[in-house]
Amino acid sequence: MKILGIESTCDETAASVIDDSCVLSNIIASQIDIHKEFGGVFPEIAAREHLRAILPTITLALKEAGCIQHSLSELRTNKTIDAIAVANRPGLIGGLMIGAMTARTLAEVLSLPLIAVDHVFAHIYGVDPERMRFPCLALVVSGGHTTILLLKSHVEYEVLGETRDDAAGEAFDKAAKVLGLSYPGGPSVELAAADFVATGSDTSGLRLLPIPKLDNPYEFSFSGLKTAFLRRAQEVAGGDFRMSSEEVSKTLTTRQKEELAFIFRESAVQILLNALAKANQEFCPEQIIISGGVSASVRLRSRAQELFGEKLLLPDRAMSTDNAVMIARAALYLGLPATNPRGLTVAPN
Ligand code: KG4
Ligand code: ZN
Repeated sequence: MKILGIESTCDETAASVIDDSCVLSNIIASQIDIHKEFGGVFPEIAAREHLRAILPTITLALKEAGCIQHSLSELRTNKTIDAIAVANRPGLIGGLMIGAMTARTLAEVLSLPLIAVDHVFAHIYGVDPERMRFPCLALVVSGGHTTILLLKSHVEYEVLGETRDDAAGEAFDKAAKVLGLSYPGGPSVELAAADFVATGSDTSGLRLLPIPKLDNPYEFSFSGLKTAFLRRAQEVAGGDFRMSSEEVSKTLTTRQKEELAFIFRESAVQILLNALAKANQEFCPEQIIISGGVSASVRLRSRAQELFGEKLLLPDRAMSTDNAVMIARAALYLGLPATNPRGLTVAPN
């Protein structure tokens, strides 16, 4: 079964075609360079960029998959795809509407089934579904969500815990701002932390940030970590706790920034893995999946590998962040029902 997946929930416009478990194309038009100058995603600009990129991206994905030669209109006579899947929740409202309206129009014109997919759940399908074994624990760590789930099968699952406030990726993005590093924060913080290690610094005596203790061991709070990080950075910058993030970033030396990046990354990774290790003990799953943008973290991956060994299944790093393969796969493996295209709604949260 050939499915066209469409993803436009944040700052990537993506389209992919899968044929059962085989990925035929995976096209991603990233807006990161545009949003960099604002230090984060500018929603209005993101929506305009999605509008500009969505049809060329879909066309390219279909061409690469061999479904069309030149233009989308060929699909009216050549029924080379069987269904369309689109992420309709959660995300930025502008991007969601553009993805949904495009998918809905194509589905109606081509008389194809339309499948609406939850973007956060779909992140789990950044891994190859054929390699999934159940029961399985999944940690989805993205820019907007941090969730641990226990899956009994593709279609039966339970949410064990979520973040109470900020998501892990959001915390990385905010930490990067304090350090004056570029958006997206995760890769910038990771690069600075790696520079700290590469210069042979002794990391053994470093004081990590306080880890929040919550009643539910599978819940997270990254807002507290973010504040603790700002306080630590203010301390290193001279001890004036009234300093803004901008003033702090201007005062810190490169060396201090690298050390702070290392401390932040270690603390965030520890919080995520503490929860996962506890869930591993309690539920003894066959497999542990970590997915979503933060799962691109080299440190998170290597620490998780040490802890969970053969049980661990990770997406390729390029499939950790937003893509449309995961949307098409989720539609296929979750056996989601088709939606009436005219009734398709979007839900930002
Ligand atoms: O899943 P994703 O692409 O988009 C959302 O659904 O939000 O995740 C984006 C998030 C950003 O917050 C980004 O800073 C974070 O993933 N991220 C990372 C790394 N690469 C991306 N966080 C930590 N380390 C990384 N290497
Ligand atoms: Zn995502």
